[in-house]
Amino acid sequence: MSDVKTQVQETPVGATAKDEKCKDCGRREFFAKVGMGSLAVAAAGAGLFSYEFFSPNVLFEAPPIVKAGKPDEFPQGSVTLDPKSAIYIINGNKGFYALSAICTHLGCLTAWKPELDLIACPCHGSRFNRDGVKVAGPAPEPLPWLKTWLAEDGNLMVDRSTTLKEPEYVKV
Ligand code: FES
Repeated sequence: MSDVKTQVQETPVGATAKDEKCKDCGRREFFAKVGMGSLAVAAAGAGLFSYEFFSPNVLFEAPPIVKAGKPDEFPQGSVTLDPKSAIYIINGNKGFYALSAICTHLGCLTAWKPELDLIACPCHGSRFNRDGVKVAGPAPEPLPWLKTWLAEDGNLMVDRSTTLKEPEYVKV
């Protein structure tokens, strides 16, 4: 009679022997999952870092040679800014030529002001005439003339990496 009483006290109603043996299984599984998750996050971070480390750290600049367009796109006497290439195409009395549109003071993009017949820098007020000569402001140099030529397909080409010491005109 006393044996039966002892058994009832050791095993709660509805509990099995497996439940007793694996009392900490839920907690173990939880920590295993947390551990696996942490490893996955660490691996993803390492992968990302490796990609950043091994990918080339370079700036992809546009090629220096620009196809500016056909000469008849630039009316006689016009000064046309191509903001993407930062150049002016000028159809002057002596022919076509190109100027850099980058201010020689601190590198701002200038703008053509037809009402003033001047190229103006918005940053510190430098101004240049249509030949690139500075007429006002802190810019230490004129706007550089850029090598310009007519390609076989009839387009005006400008090499932004080649500046000219003397003015050269493209006659069409
Ligand atoms: S950057 Fe043009 S005047 Fe300063």
